[in-house]
Amino acid sequence: MIATTTTGRRRKPETFQLEEDPLWYKDALIYELHVRAFMDSNADGSGDFRGLIEKLPYLQDLGINALWLLPFYPSPGRDDGYDIADYNNVNPMFGSLGDVMQLVREAHRRGIRVINELVANHTSDQHPWFQRARRAKPGTAARDFYVWSETNQRYQDARIIFKDFETSNWTWDHVANAYYWHRFYSHQPDLNFDNPKVHEAMFKALDFWMEMGIDGVRLDAVPYLYEREGTNGENLPETHLFLKELRRHVDENFRNRMLLGEANQWPEDAVAYFGQGDECQMSFHFPLMPRLFMSIRMEDRFPIVDILAQTPSIPDTAQWALFLRNHDELTLEMVTDEERDYMYRAYTQDRLARLNLGIRRRLAPLLGNDRRRIELMNGLLFSLPGTPVLYYGDEIGMGDNIFLGDRNGVRTPMQWSADRNAGFSRANRQRLYLPVITDPEYHYETVNVEAQQGNPHSMYSWTKRLIALRKRHRAFGRGTLELLRPENRKVLAYVRRYESEQILCIANLSRFLQAVELDLSQWKGLVPVELFSSNEMPAIGDNPYFLTLGPHAFYWFAMQPRAAPSIQSDGAQPATALPEVRTAGGWESALVGEAKERLENILLGYIPQRRWFGGKAHMGAQRRRRRSRAAV
Ligand code: NOJ
Repeated sequence: MIATTTTGRRRKPETFQLEEDPLWYKDALIYELHVRAFMDSNADGSGDFRGLIEKLPYLQDLGINALWLLPFYPSPGRDDGYDIADYNNVNPMFGSLGDVMQLVREAHRRGIRVINELVANHTSDQHPWFQRARRAKPGTAARDFYVWSETNQRYQDARIIFKDFETSNWTWDHVANAYYWHRFYSHQPDLNFDNPKVHEAMFKALDFWMEMGIDGVRLDAVPYLYEREGTNGENLPETHLFLKELRRHVDENFRNRMLLGEANQWPEDAVAYFGQGDECQMSFHFPLMPRLFMSIRMEDRFPIVDILAQTPSIPDTAQWALFLRNHDELTLEMVTDEERDYMYRAYTQDRLARLNLGIRRRLAPLLGNDRRRIELMNGLLFSLPGTPVLYYGDEIGMGDNIFLGDRNGVRTPMQWSADRNAGFSRANRQRLYLPVITDPEYHYETVNVEAQQGNPHSMYSWTKRLIALRKRHRAFGRGTLELLRPENRKVLAYVRRYESEQILCIANLSRFLQAVELDLSQWKGLVPVELFSSNEMPAIGDNPYFLTLGPHAFYWFAMQPRAAPSIQSDGAQPATALPEVRTAGGWESALVGEAKERLENILLGYIPQRRWFGGKAHMGAQRRRRRSRAAV
């Protein structure tokens, strides 16, 4: 698309250059979506790549810089695409390989990296590998692509994950005359990682997408790759050896790529997926997520502080992926039985909302559509150590539909406008892959992008501001964490520190006003500057720092030196440490792409501190603006 300037001259759109940065995922804001659910360009009732490409400006404007695409490969679709029938192709319902290439190109041009899925643990039973295996002779390499057994009594210590749907991890195959192993649905046979040919096949699948320019892959169900008698079949040493092999392969062949492990495990096991910095660069922090919901419900910081204390430190290049909601049920596997009971009591008034070991609800309905709670939870998501992952639709507070089967209730079409089918599709309403949300409280006619874009106070506009703010401070993505321990346990307070940046984050977990005294003595003399408003608070002195916090309020303060006297005797500005900008190439490279965005962010913090900005010239400009507004 060629943009037009105000003078009518055509100018080429700015091309965003992705930076040469192997740690890009540390500063990322990841937006998760299913192509099927986002935008339908050809009126067949299902989203597609062309629709997604059309909506890239929306994502760029929202401010996210990485896109995680749920599986879009050929598939019978019995587990929403996690049942893959061909690793190196595109489900024709969503488009073609050419469309994916265009998406990657266009996304990169807009400064957005693309992450896809490598479902290595299992395939669909319709995959040619499985069809070949079940007919192949026992003992052949083709047969050994999957895990077979004459009895269904092996590996009995492995739990059943989809416990609402399956009663065993073995299913009898009448063609093979044997049982096959599956950790998920019975139509998803597990690949046999003891077979080196399976490793080769996975490397090939990965290379295919990486050569196309994909920046990262989520490794679905990664703890379950191997089976061993007498173990629960999770996190086995063999799995980690395979991951090291995979990482080496990626590092040797590609640059700036990232592996994101989906290991729904306790912190000490999840941490193992980083290896010594030689396995995944990222891994989801599953146990933190339910504890955020627990803390806000109990109005007590203990669950969060406790799980953070249980989280071992991670290699320098590693990063947690943090999330509130995703395309699955809110999993309660990584909590104790008592905690699970509590979560069910607190968050599932309707039993239908429960699924497997979890809760199938979106963020807004979970939090009673309470704007303050939603903002607070996002405030925590955006400021705790890790990279936030947003689920499509949560930026507008979309609702769900627990009456649809499985996890479909949180996978309904994106709500773009109040038009037919929420502006998602021009198809006959009955043809939509899932119905749009029409619950009175979350009806698409009110909860939609168009309506919220027009309102600076909407959830969408607020989320956009939050994203922009986070991007201005690298401490959120890269900084260390220091927990403060005020006496009032309804208040969670911590400091994120990176290079010269120190950000104090404070959250009131309670629905009522709270007072808190913080021991900030190590920052004595500094001034907390509230980041949303740029307002300066009183300087930190000798006494505990006293704050009152409104219901569910959260604040981020940059700890800054007290403004120095503005003019020195010689008229010069006092020497303060100037922000440093490093570029890989010449200075011009600071003026394009991500580097430009970073420079702009530095200037946003730097300019207001300048004498000439706070002085007469600026005030004059403000007055002039006020006068012209009055004239209107
Ligand atoms: C985890 C995915 O998030 C989930 O949606 C899927 O059903 C299972 N893995 C099996 O692939």
